[in-house]
Amino acid sequence: MKLSVAILAAGRGARMKSRVPKVLHPICGKPMICHVVDRARELNAVAITVVVGYGGEEVRAALGPGLDYAEQSEQLGTAHAMAQARASLAGRSDIILVLHGDVPLMTAETLTKLIRRHQESDAVLTVLTALAEDPTAYGRVLRDELGNITGIVEEIAATPEQRSIREINTGLYCFSDCWLWPRLDRIQPDPGNGEHYLPGLIAIAAEEGQSSASAVAGDPDELMGINNRVQLARAEAYVRERIRNTLMLSGVTMIHPPSIFIDEQASIGQDTVIYPNTHILGGTTVGRECAIGPNAVLRDATVGDRCSIVASFVEDSHIEEDSSVGPLAHLRSGTRVGRRARVGNFAEIKNSRLGNGAMVSHFGFMGDAEAGEDVNVGAGVVTCNFDGKEKHSTHIETRALIGSGTMLVAPVRVGAGSK
Ligand code: UD1
Ligand code: CA
Repeated sequence: MKLSVAILAAGRGARMKSRVPKVLHPICGKPMICHVVDRARELNAVAITVVVGYGGEEVRAALGPGLDYAEQSEQLGTAHAMAQARASLAGRSDIILVLHGDVPLMTAETLTKLIRRHQESDAVLTVLTALAEDPTAYGRVLRDELGNITGIVEEIAATPEQRSIREINTGLYCFSDCWLWPRLDRIQPDPGNGEHYLPGLIAIAAEEGQSSASAVAGDPDELMGINNRVQLARAEAYVRERIRNTLMLSGVTMIHPPSIFIDEQASIGQDTVIYPNTHILGGTTVGRECAIGPNAVLRDATVGDRCSIVASFVEDSHIEEDSSVGPLAHLRSGTRVGRRARVGNFAEIKNSRLGNGAMVSHFGFMGDAEAGEDVNVGAGVVTCNFDGKEKHSTHIETRALIGSGTMLVAPVRVGAGSK
């Protein structure tokens, strides 16, 4: 079985009230559309085509290479969007999976379930549905007395009775490739706004005596569509909780989980404890048996085993095992802290290396500096790295002790063991 994926992402997302295309609004630090593409990439598809329109250039730039794109210059509905993908997808596979750029939270298992249901049935199309707690704004699924799907009615056209139906269209479908493409042009425009809607294919299948199948998603929240910023916030909270739960089940302790923010790409080792109000962002890696927080922000940081980071900001820096950072330290880009080292109490370190056992533990600044093993930097030491025009570096060799209040005007070298 060969599979292709079409991702519909051409709409502006007017309900977001934003200049930015809806699908580029981030969830947990990653544009919504990237979540969708990541799931699609897990499916071994022969082709993935993203239909772009509003802000198309920005969307392409965010997604990068390795995908096909189709352009929908005017947004005339989901079926019209799909028709734009015909040239790049038709005839390449047996099944076309349709995803929406604004339905980003589904798991690969859910998609596999939909695909499998389609393969096992003799239907020309299979709809993924969900039983929503609140079905407002979604298309409602209509079924006959035998339980077969007969159509989808959009909220705006639904009767009060139909609006009380809780089974919703998630907007995700599988189609048999050879059946789909010629049918797209036969969909009648919506009488309300003249748009061409993809669910119109269910009626066409029925007219032809072909059957439509369905799969019901286990968790309706996973299939939430994001149309406005209230839903965006809800999606963010949902994914944050899912990330935290996965980490806790893998052996990470969290004190007051709702106040802990962890991005999807971050990884954390066993028996590490995360304290409240902590953000672990980007591609941060934290080792085992660490204590992180309270009030720590780590972005693209690498932290070895058994480190402690309290009330500090660490970005694009590497801290080796058994070291402690904070309270109230700021490690800026390009900093490398060796093993058993200590940084804290109003210390700012930028683009510098601290050797094993080095200490910068009382207020001060180190920029473009290198401090060897067991160097002790006293209170209020500043590496004056900028002469107004250029940056210069400071070298402090092993075991040197820099007395409190010293201004090291770079370029400068302090020999090993100096006091
Ligand atoms: C759509 C479904 C609805 C379903 C809901 C699930 C239709 C007509 N309705 O409604 O049944 O319950 O999704 O979330 O399909 N898009 C384009 N080009 C267009 C129009 C839309 O690419 O011309 C893309 C959008 O960028 C978006 C997706 O298709 O990613 C869905 O469009 P949207 O306008 O959000 O549809 P809904 O009203 O949410
Ligand atoms: Ca939507």
